Amino acid sequence: MKYDKEMLVKRACDARLKAYSPYSSFCVGAALLCSDGEIYEGANIENASYGATNCAERTAIFKAVNEGRRDFEAISIVGAKRGEEIGEICAPCGICRQVIAEFCNPDFEILLYDGKDIKTYTLRELLPESFKKETL
Ligand code: THU
Repeated sequence: MKYDKEMLVKRACDARLKAYSPYSSFCVGAALLCSDGEIYEGANIENASYGATNCAERTAIFKAVNEGRRDFEAISIVGAKRGEEIGEICAPCGICRQVIAEFCNPDFEILLYDGKDIKTYTLRELLPESFKKETL
């Protein structure tokens, strides 16, 4: 599917502004693209227990899945401290990679933005030899 990568990164930057991150002050945004062009945004939502924190990627994916969507093409992710410009890529954590693998095929694209360039990875590259439903 052809899509506008700059636009998807911009949506992640918008989503990042909604982060609830009083403990780390690190604000992450994600924008998840569906096959019909619809986009679900997500931000990280922290918790006083720390462990109950939900990452931006999972917020976006869970919102979309809860709306009946599973036809995902790509996700963009950006992260930086609150009030700071994006200066480095924010790669998805291991739990988020595993959640992406539940719903997306190996060609699913993960866009990471360092404030200058967009780097495109496939799920296959970021989570090779994954544990998935076919394994069971
Ligand atoms: N975080 C994300 O939202 N996504 C990631 O893939 C990495 C980490 C959030 C979780 C926490 O609120 C903050 O970044 C610092 O770890």
